Amino acid sequence: MRTPVVAGNWKMNGDTASVDSLIDGILVESAILALQRCSLLVFPSYVHLGQVAAKLKGSAISVGVQDVDQRRTGAVTGGVSVQMVKDLGATHALVGHSERRTLFAEDDDTVARKFEECVTGGVIPIVCVGETLAERKQNKTLEVITRQLRAITDRIESKRFGDAMIAYEPVWAIGTGESATPEQAEAVHFGLRQYMKKFDAQLSESIRILYGGSVTPENAKALFTQKNVDGALVGGASLKAKSFAEICKAGEES
Ligand code: PGA
Repeated sequence: MRTPVVAGNWKMNGDTASVDSLIDGILVESAILALQRCSLLVFPSYVHLGQVAAKLKGSAISVGVQDVDQRRTGAVTGGVSVQMVKDLGATHALVGHSERRTLFAEDDDTVARKFEECVTGGVIPIVCVGETLAERKQNKTLEVITRQLRAITDRIESKRFGDAMIAYEPVWAIGTGESATPEQAEAVHFGLRQYMKKFDAQLSESIRILYGGSVTPENAKALFTQKNVDGALVGGASLKAKSFAEICKAGEES
């Protein structure tokens, strides 16, 4: 039985004061919801990680980072390692978000190395996969996302996956206000699970596949009713405690 996860990707937003009040708001809202099933994760920027982790200490909400370096230590100016973020309280890391792939030219191999460094170092990775609008129009969605995933399944044995998750984030839906329909999301999530089935049947049943791309309090419920949608990775709507909490409520009730 897969339990739902709602994760907030804050991207490059906030300052110490606004991050403080966002966390305060999320703590208040989530206490009202008294969540039993739905797990909550937040992904602040590196510079706010220590602050957020300190505030969340003792709560049921976990904190992760939006990226991590694939190397362990040493001469990597600007790099941030798995052990560094773990030391500050991160339990999860996004890898391969489409903004990293495009703005920072990360290829499938780099993303797979990041994933491996996470599982080696004891941080749970959430690998993001997704097609562009052009690729969807050419009917290449499954081809693209399985290629992105294959870089990881070719490299890492299934028994090392632990609680790793997949986030399906169609590039055309991110930050555009145009979410995939529940049926579109389900079709791709089903395809991802079928792919994983060939890799490891047991893992394919237990691995959580989150949907991301313009998730809002309005569309979350319909997305979460889909059989293979196990939660959401939320960008814009996670920057307001109220809307994030409404999505968490939908997750709890799914
Ligand atoms: P969005 O972002 O919810 O603002 O579309 C999702 C993401 O990029 O993870």
